[in-house]
Amino acid sequence: GKPGSYRLRVSKNGIRLTASTPEGIFNGVQTLLQLIPMGRNGLFKTRGPFKLPCVEITDEPRFEWRGMHLDVCRHFFDKQFIKKYIDYLAMHKMNVFHWHLTEDQGWRIEIKKYPELTRVGAWRNGSMVGPYNDHNTDTVLYGGYYSQKDIREIVKYASARHITIVPEVEMPGHSLAALASYPELSCTGGPFDVAKEWGVFDDVYCAGNDKTFEFLQGVLDEVCDLFPGKYIHIGGDECPKTRWKTCEKCQKRIKETNLKDEHELQSYFIQRIEKYLNAKGKQIIGWDEILEGGLAPNAAVMSWRGTERGIAAAKAKHFVVMTPGSHCYFDHYQGNPEYEPHAIGGFTPLEKVYAYDPVPAELNVEEASYIMGAQGNVWTEYINFPKEVEYMALPRMCALAEVLWTYPQNKNGAGFVERLNQHLDGPISILCNYSRTHQLVNFILSPASEGVDVTVYTLDSTRTIFAHANTISPNGLLHTDTTIFKAKKTGTMHMVKKPMVLNAYSEKRNEKGLIQNRSKHTSIELYVSKSTSKNITFTTDPDPKYKGNGSFTLVDAVRGSKRRQNHQWLAWQGKDVEMTIDLEKKQKLKEIKVGSYQDESNWIYRAQDIALLISKNGKDYTKINTLSKHGGNGGPYRESYQFKFHSKKARYIKIIAQNPGTIPEGKPGAGNPSWLFFDEIEVY
Ligand code: ACM
Ligand code: ZN
Repeated sequence: GKPGSYRLRVSKNGIRLTASTPEGIFNGVQTLLQLIPMGRNGLFKTRGPFKLPCVEITDEPRFEWRGMHLDVCRHFFDKQFIKKYIDYLAMHKMNVFHWHLTEDQGWRIEIKKYPELTRVGAWRNGSMVGPYNDHNTDTVLYGGYYSQKDIREIVKYASARHITIVPEVEMPGHSLAALASYPELSCTGGPFDVAKEWGVFDDVYCAGNDKTFEFLQGVLDEVCDLFPGKYIHIGGDECPKTRWKTCEKCQKRIKETNLKDEHELQSYFIQRIEKYLNAKGKQIIGWDEILEGGLAPNAAVMSWRGTERGIAAAKAKHFVVMTPGSHCYFDHYQGNPEYEPHAIGGFTPLEKVYAYDPVPAELNVEEASYIMGAQGNVWTEYINFPKEVEYMALPRMCALAEVLWTYPQNKNGAGFVERLNQHLDGPISILCNYSRTHQLVNFILSPASEGVDVTVYTLDSTRTIFAHANTISPNGLLHTDTTIFKAKKTGTMHMVKKPMVLNAYSEKRNEKGLIQNRSKHTSIELYVSKSTSKNITFTTDPDPKYKGNGSFTLVDAVRGSKRRQNHQWLAWQGKDVEMTIDLEKKQKLKEIKVGSYQDESNWIYRAQDIALLISKNGKDYTKINTLSKHGGNGGPYRESYQFKFHSKKARYIKIIAQNPGTIPEGKPGAGNPSWLFFDEIEVY
């Protein structure tokens, strides 16, 4: 069998676990532990005997690289937590821990030859607090590092659990902490501070200075000595070429080595390091930028900016680990941002992780054999404490573990959630602050002849859902609750009333009817109006990147959130927008509200002028008014355009919005066409 495979037989006569490797035995024990029936509060039923189910399991992993990553640089996590994190991997039969040890914001590994790395580079004079765009930093000294003794202890701990640690030493970019310690390794000579803000910085190792390579080789000598695994991760991502373009030494190197440009200089950099490490019997792996300017001959690639570069590398017969942002970044939101702690962005819910297949359809069987597996990444800009790491990593790690172990034909989403809940009620519930986001109630809206239909569901279909609606009275107060829905499964409600708030939660009871746990409430505000579920046509279709739920998005009775969630908005770049709503019959109209969005850091500007026209026959239109809001600034916020007029009869409504044009100088994305976002056209 494959490394890690095992056979487990539980029968009346006893338990028999066999494997051809110690790793296989270890995996079999993890399975056996999962078979032990759990008491309340995640404790084993240790008082008195318990029964194991009789099973015969022949099991093997689908992939050899079943990884989790942790960034200990943006925030530092001590030795105790690293061991706990390794326990989580082991429990899920994962076998690679990618330890992101160096960054702009901190150097976290003791290097005896270069003591300044931890004396200076492990500490910063403050950290960003709050969302990136606020650019707030505190002034609290922050840092920490692992001594070589700590590292040896952790490597041993991981090894006992059949987990290989892949250390990452970032180069040529994300290296400010090293440059703050040894500024002579930069193009300009510095001085530098260890970064306080998150982001990508222009100052990187000088590729023209042989001292840079001497230094990195010295660092890598000690790293290789500490980590017995085959792979060393050399980073390679997000390296601006700004300094290299004007650095005499770098330009001299380009000339003397007959390189075409700075991308080839990065390639030279990585290849020189690869040669050094290969000679020491190690292989390099790097982020997918290492493809630019020519891939080092033996390098493995970690595909993070989508899967395309992983596909290209596999076709070129390089080993690949898949870790696309869309499915494997566990620093992204796992649920509706309204109910989640602030995260870096994105949307990667549990079911999306579970549905992931690391082998892209574009690869044939031979090429697919270069996909070693996949990995979940936990970047910690917005994750300060161990509890928060746990919350972001689990249960998405559980889903990824199954993706990496189980062959696709044996995967089953509903079965997974049921087993997951059992698992989460087990010992892990006393160890770990995992997220219960998948137990929250979700809402799906669909068109109905009058109003909208709202389907409520949780990923865990064994939970009871409670939902109730409150109508919003004209003075904004809520009327009394009406419980309108209670079911042990997904259900659909028909909404025809005026503005209302729909609240829902789910709960789980045990056999005795006692509440085991209850989810937090989730809610949506529904603005059912004359336009709800009616047909809309556009003269120019929305951009495919922001097509929401089709044109229904604009008339689904839900206003786009000011914390922008892309599925709620339709967007156009650099174009005026003209849309026509057919109300199906002539009716009296007196108020129309159009929602637009403003967020200059994401190149989104509210509409400049919006014209409203109405028609009885769809041919002859009467203009009602044009609303102008020039000079959108800042953001993010939702901007509502409200047309109020004396009651008029019409069947068709036409809205013509002017794009704000090219982004002005001094703003993010200056010179590019701006984006125009719309959500919800309400007609009263
Ligand atoms: C990365 O997320 N910069 C690899
Ligand atoms: Zn240079």
